Amino acid sequence: MSRRTIRLHTFCSVKGGVGKSTLATVCAKLLAARGRVPVLVDCDLTGTSLADGLRLRSPAVTLLDDGSINLEAPPTGEMLTVEQTRALRAQRRDALRRDGQTWRDRPHPPPYFNDPLNYAFLTRRPARVDALLWRHERDDRVLYLPSSSTHDDVIQSVEWFFGQPFDWARSLAWTLDGLAQQVPALSDVVVDLPPGIWGLPHEALVLVSTLLREEPMPDDYPPWHAGPIRWVPNPFLVTSRDPNDILPALEYVARQRARVSTLKPVVNRDTEGLNALRSMARARVGPLLEAAGLHETIERVAEMSGLARLFWDGNVTVDETVDEALREVRKTLRLEEEP
Ligand SMILES: Nc1ncnc2c1ncn2[C@@H]1O[C@H](COP(=O)(O)OP(=O)(O)OP(=O)(O)O)[C@@H](O)[C@H]1O
Ligand SMILES: [Mg+2]
Repeated sequence: MSRRTIRLHTFCSVKGGVGKSTLATVCAKLLAARGRVPVLVDCDLTGTSLADGLRLRSPAVTLLDDGSINLEAPPTGEMLTVEQTRALRAQRRDALRRDGQTWRDRPHPPPYFNDPLNYAFLTRRPARVDALLWRHERDDRVLYLPSSSTHDDVIQSVEWFFGQPFDWARSLAWTLDGLAQQVPALSDVVVDLPPGIWGLPHEALVLVSTLLREEPMPDDYPPWHAGPIRWVPNPFLVTSRDPNDILPALEYVARQRARVSTLKPVVNRDTEGLNALRSMARARVGPLLEAAGLHETIERVAEMSGLARLFWDGNVTVDETVDEALREVRKTLRLEEEP
């Protein structure tokens, strides 16, 4: 059986604010610019959403009689404007305030990542995720699935922390399975994880580990090991140069080595170059790094105002100086490599 390959790029970090969303977004844009078909999944359920910063257009979705999203309906093919999207976001916030308890069954538009996740939790199968994908106002050919930053959605998401372990990862897996089945051209999924290496990011990395080691998926998960799709993980741990960040980050990578062999530490916003960075790392966590053979795997993304701009901007074509640096980012993110 010939299997279709989909790459799964994941971005996590020990500390918040180190550039996960920026690198995940740039990753998706670089892929789309090369003709691939990526979906960027915003898994940060803690109150920041890609839809807050980026000028994203939500899809028009099919509604049920009560005004909630029909999560089993196919795509309508229509997109709303940014202004219409913003108005709907405010309406969803107000609707949740009114009857927040029924959120799992009755999500109001616009659709967020939270919704197919909850659907998968309740049904153990994927929603029509292809009907829920957003686009940038200046279409960069990236398909977006932003999380909700609405206060009540965030409060409801706290339930993931108190549920059974791996409820979240299983629901994520079903949601990804929906994307793979429903978007035939899909080639890449880019996952922007919440800050920290416990809880949801840990669950996501266990999923990555299962795929990397080609282990059978547990019961109640999509049967990927036997199916027509081969998921190939491309995992990153983003860190700053701050010793309070880089030390725990490298220790985590070292400890996960056996299970997540390709987890790559990336120092973001670096100003001093790779050699300086590697000797700094060696000096600080020398024996641990040596033992794990880690210092050679550390890579960097430079401090670049162009990168921050690219994050916001729908258009991937930027000026020459940034292009040079973008080639480096492409390499660091292993986008040149054949899966
Ligand atoms: N390489 C870079 N060069 C310059 N600025 C950068 C770079 N990477 C990220 N930034 C800036 O750093 C800030 C934080 O980045 P970002 O929001 O991507 O971090 P994050 O890890 O996703 O944060 P959070 O943990 O809150 O989700 C942003 O203002 C972004 O523009
Ligand atoms: Mg972020």
